[in-house]
Amino acid sequence: MSRIEARGVGLRYGRREALRAVDAVVEPGSILGIIGPNGSGKSSLLRVLSGVRTPETGAVLVDGRPLQEVSDRERGRTIAVVPQETHPAFPIRVREMVLLGRAPHLGPFGWEGPADLRAANDAMRRTETLELAERRVDQLSGGERQRVVLARALAQEAPILLLDEPTAFLDLRHAVVLLDLVRDLAREGRSVGLVVHDLNLASMYCDRLLLLSAGSVAAEGTPDEVLTWKLLCRVYGTELYVAPNDVTGKTVVLPLSREHLERLHRGS
Ligand SMILES: Nc1ncnc2c1ncn2[C@@H]1O[C@H](COP(=O)(O)OP(=O)(O)OP(=O)(O)O)[C@@H](O)[C@H]1O
Ligand SMILES: [Mg+2]
Repeated sequence: MSRIEARGVGLRYGRREALRAVDAVVEPGSILGIIGPNGSGKSSLLRVLSGVRTPETGAVLVDGRPLQEVSDRERGRTIAVVPQETHPAFPIRVREMVLLGRAPHLGPFGWEGPADLRAANDAMRRTETLELAERRVDQLSGGERQRVVLARALAQEAPILLLDEPTAFLDLRHAVVLLDLVRDLAREGRSVGLVVHDLNLASMYCDRLLLLSAGSVAAEGTPDEVLTWKLLCRVYGTELYVAPNDVTGKTVVLPLSREHLERLHRGS
């Protein structure tokens, strides 16, 4: 088990400030949901946590140790990432792509052993991608490819899992299947950082939420503490309906169309 933490992190792209004094903690056994409008810094925070970008100010600590001091190989064994961009896919088979997740575990000659094949198979089984194993990655649908990228991250068997909108291309069933799996992984002791746009999924699955607004933390807490009407309307700059749901007991968030708003204002 590993704990990952961003402390007072600031990040710039040239003159554009993407993150300012951001604190975030991902505890073992739990899911931290990272939410916020487009461009608020969610992917940037994930890039900093995964070590893809080094912050200009502040630090990222893994079990109290600065991430910069961790070797690439060790980082690969500790942190698995599912990025937002689905890179142009290579014409390799799904099974080979998932096996790439084993790279940080392989010996000096890069041979895959039975343990690696087992980890890859297990990852494909859990992500329902076994039936795609012999297909070419560049010939899959966006949603299928997204599940394969998760399978690769799972095969890595890292205690920290960072996911950037893993449900973006998924249909309703696959989104729920994937997030059920992510929650199981957290319950098994992994630390999960999850960027998610859908606030209803964030409400249902995350233990804590970090709401970003223009690169700063606007709120941090349990979903019920963070998903409040006034705050969300302000940060997202639109009118919303926010209320607890009878079935799940969790907060639901609905955007309101102009037509509904006009009706509300007319009081009908
Ligand atoms: N490589 C880059 N070069 C310059 N600016 C960048 C780069 N990547 C992101 N930015 C800018 O940094 C800010 C934060 O971007 P980021 O990708 O972290 O947002 P996000 O919250 O993930 O948004 P989205 O919901 O659209 O994925 C944005 O203003 C974006 O334009
Ligand atoms: Mg993003």
